[in-house]
Amino acid sequence: MTTNEQIARRRTFAIISHPDAGKTTLTEKFLLYGGAIQSAGSVKGKASDKHAVSDWMDIEKQRGISITSSAMQFEYEGFCINILDTPGHQDFSEDTYRTLMAADSAVMVIDAAKGIEPQTRKLFKVCAMRGIPIFTFINKLDREARDPFDLIDELEKEFGIGTYPMNWPIGCGRDFKGVYDREKRRILAFDEFHAGRKRIESIDVELDDTARLDELIGERARTELCEQVELLDAASFDFDIDKVQNGKLSPVFFGSALNNFGVEAFLEQFLKLTTPPRSHKVGERELSPFDDGFSAFVFKIQANMNKMHRDRIAFMRICSGKFERGKEYFHVRQGKNIKLSQPQQLMAQEREMISEAYAGDIIGVFDPGIFSIGDTVCDASMKIEFDGIPTFAPEHFAEVEQTDSMKRKQFQKGMEQIAEEGAIQIFFMPGRGMERVVVGVVGMLQYEVLEHRMKTEYNVGYRQTPLRYQLIRYIGEGSPDPSTLRLSRDTLWVKDVKGNDLLLFESEFDIRWALENNKTLSLYEFNK
Ligand code: G4P
Repeated sequence: MTTNEQIARRRTFAIISHPDAGKTTLTEKFLLYGGAIQSAGSVKGKASDKHAVSDWMDIEKQRGISITSSAMQFEYEGFCINILDTPGHQDFSEDTYRTLMAADSAVMVIDAAKGIEPQTRKLFKVCAMRGIPIFTFINKLDREARDPFDLIDELEKEFGIGTYPMNWPIGCGRDFKGVYDREKRRILAFDEFHAGRKRIESIDVELDDTARLDELIGERARTELCEQVELLDAASFDFDIDKVQNGKLSPVFFGSALNNFGVEAFLEQFLKLTTPPRSHKVGERELSPFDDGFSAFVFKIQANMNKMHRDRIAFMRICSGKFERGKEYFHVRQGKNIKLSQPQQLMAQEREMISEAYAGDIIGVFDPGIFSIGDTVCDASMKIEFDGIPTFAPEHFAEVEQTDSMKRKQFQKGMEQIAEEGAIQIFFMPGRGMERVVVGVVGMLQYEVLEHRMKTEYNVGYRQTPLRYQLIRYIGEGSPDPSTLRLSRDTLWVKDVKGNDLLLFESEFDIRWALENNKTLSLYEFNK
């Protein structure tokens, strides 16, 4: 196969959901279809060994949750699919956001009984910011569910995009009879006893074939289905593939991941409608994945993959061309040629050494401490630099104070390295030195991870005091010298590692107060 053929068959997507909506179960079914795993329960087992394939960190295992995101590759019907798993716990981190930067589309799993939940909302915003296609899988129809019209209404209102139900549920819970495929005009009948053991055959049936429908789903369900489909045809958006591929219209599927119901139909449609690897911005121009030459950017750095060695792995998304093991590539920020050593990919459960990879793929390489989030690596002849990965605003802040003055160096090194990996953000309080810093995180769990890692990897303890700030703003150019600002008691001036001045606020009220009392002050948000 040529490089271009290899690239054209890649499909790289992130799977997102609120915890417990069924993301792991759905991923597992995808892997089963791709033949990448042999049995259900391989991705996440029950109780005691309840860990996902991405469990690399100790703390993650202890808590039985997935903090880190990983990428998995499998083949299905000629496609080479990369799934980017996003951490499923409520206390997710900036890494979750960054993972979305490496995906070409997103699959959003929603619990039919719950609808949109906070985590889905946050992740959705990042997808929308990038205009990537979003496919919605409304899960758990085998349980009592909310009205399907309500659910799609909520999606449209909350997210401000159109939806297009590809299929429509026939009942739910005990009365769940299956789904009606709007395009193919047929019914996929639900049989709880099938439980994913074999493929379900769909039954072609016209909605006006009353006798046949009554036989299949019963008269009451038939009447309801016909009414609902009529309403849907009249009221829903028209299907428009361009809108789907630009993230303006989300195809919606109903099903039950646990029962393996509607999963295969979803996967098939998804692969048909989603995009192959998309182009990436390099300054003013767009770099096509088919452009000659290898290029990639680092979107995640994972420390502590092997506890014996303090090793780090840098995960890169390949944006163009073909990666070849052993070849020298150019590390743009450092301005030098490097060899990417121990290149690997995660195939279902195993990390495998690889000798080649293509645009759309995610590879992990050994990082001796030379990579930072957002770095570009490319063929020496290209010397391009991808637009950086945005920094996401921390939502929690704490003051961290080093308690053992003998360990100043370790404290500094640990904080800096962990910040470089992008797990936390550190801020300095002008005039207070390096012994006391403000640590900002997206998810509270990162504080535990930080403490654990500082102790085990750097052998340093510290005192941590939660701060009540919730909002963070950069101070804009042309603003007064920050040391002369009139600020309320609930506002703190800090600097980031690059020397930018920022203000932390407890509430919107404090922001207004600062702006009203400092006429030439301008503030701006992250990623705006
Ligand atoms: P997550 O990764 O999004 O956090 O969710 P996960 O797949 O772990 O699913 C959360 C729970 O929901 C699991 O049950 C899972 O079996 C269940 N589930 C997933 N899909 C469906 C579905 O279509 N119907 C029903 N009824 N349940 C579903 P659990 O008891 O928490 O875990 P486990 O012991 O089954 O692993």
